[in-house]
Amino acid sequence: MYYTIYIYWIKFVKFFLRFFIFLEILWIDKFQAMIHDHAMKYLIITGNPKKDGLCHLEEEELIKGCKDGGADAETLNVGKLGRCHVCGDGWGSCRTEHRCSFGGDGFDEAREKVKQADAFCFITPVYWGEMAEGLKSFFDRLRRCEATWQFEGKAAESAFGGKQVLLVASPGGSGNGLLSCLEQMDRFCRHTGAQIFDYIGVNRWNHDYKKKAIYAAARAMAEGREAGKSI
Ligand SMILES: Cc1cc2nc3c(=O)[nH]c(=O)nc-3n(C[C@H](O)[C@H](O)[C@H](O)COP(=O)(O)O)c2cc1C
Repeated sequence: MYYTIYIYWIKFVKFFLRFFIFLEILWIDKFQAMIHDHAMKYLIITGNPKKDGLCHLEEEELIKGCKDGGADAETLNVGKLGRCHVCGDGWGSCRTEHRCSFGGDGFDEAREKVKQADAFCFITPVYWGEMAEGLKSFFDRLRRCEATWQFEGKAAESAFGGKQVLLVASPGGSGNGLLSCLEQMDRFCRHTGAQIFDYIGVNRWNHDYKKKAIYAAARAMAEGREAGKSI
């Protein structure tokens, strides 16, 4: 008699433990998914054609900063997308429908990533005092689709509307053109309603200390630091 009760008791305890472990696994998965769903999506946009170099080193700092700040970081390289076709007499579907008629070449896919992102870093080598051509081409097309929302009084519809952007440019040995490059990216942000978080120029003789600033900026953004507020 006591033996039977004992066996059933053991069975009950085993069942209860299994049920508890099952619930816990379910809960951990759900909890992790919840955290992941709510993590800031940080998009690093570049047109860098190189596989190594300063921009890549700085990209690693950005990713580390995002991760430590609790954000999900992803890099979008738009360097190989085609340029704007400048439809009609200057405007096309970008003006009337906020879409590019040639978006099927990868532009629409890239734009969708921009829409999904919460914050950005634009990072580029300095070419001729400007951003790398691939990034400029992408921004030329994107600006037409996003900046035109304001013509209808719907500026907030822009994929960049109110979102923070860190601008990073990397010139070579002369260091010439850093300011004009940052200024070019600044203008894009102002046209599309993005909020500039900071400007960082990094080169071969300052990247030891600039990389710390890049890490810290990405981390501060990931942690929700607001531009314009005193710390
Ligand atoms: C087509 C071209 C134009 C460039 N123009 C400039 C320039 O205007 N000013 C400058 O300081 N460096 C210029 N450079 C050098 C690059 O900016 C430099 O090598 C690069 O940004 C360093 O970063 P990276 O190591 O990620 O390539 C140019 C390089 C190329 C390929």
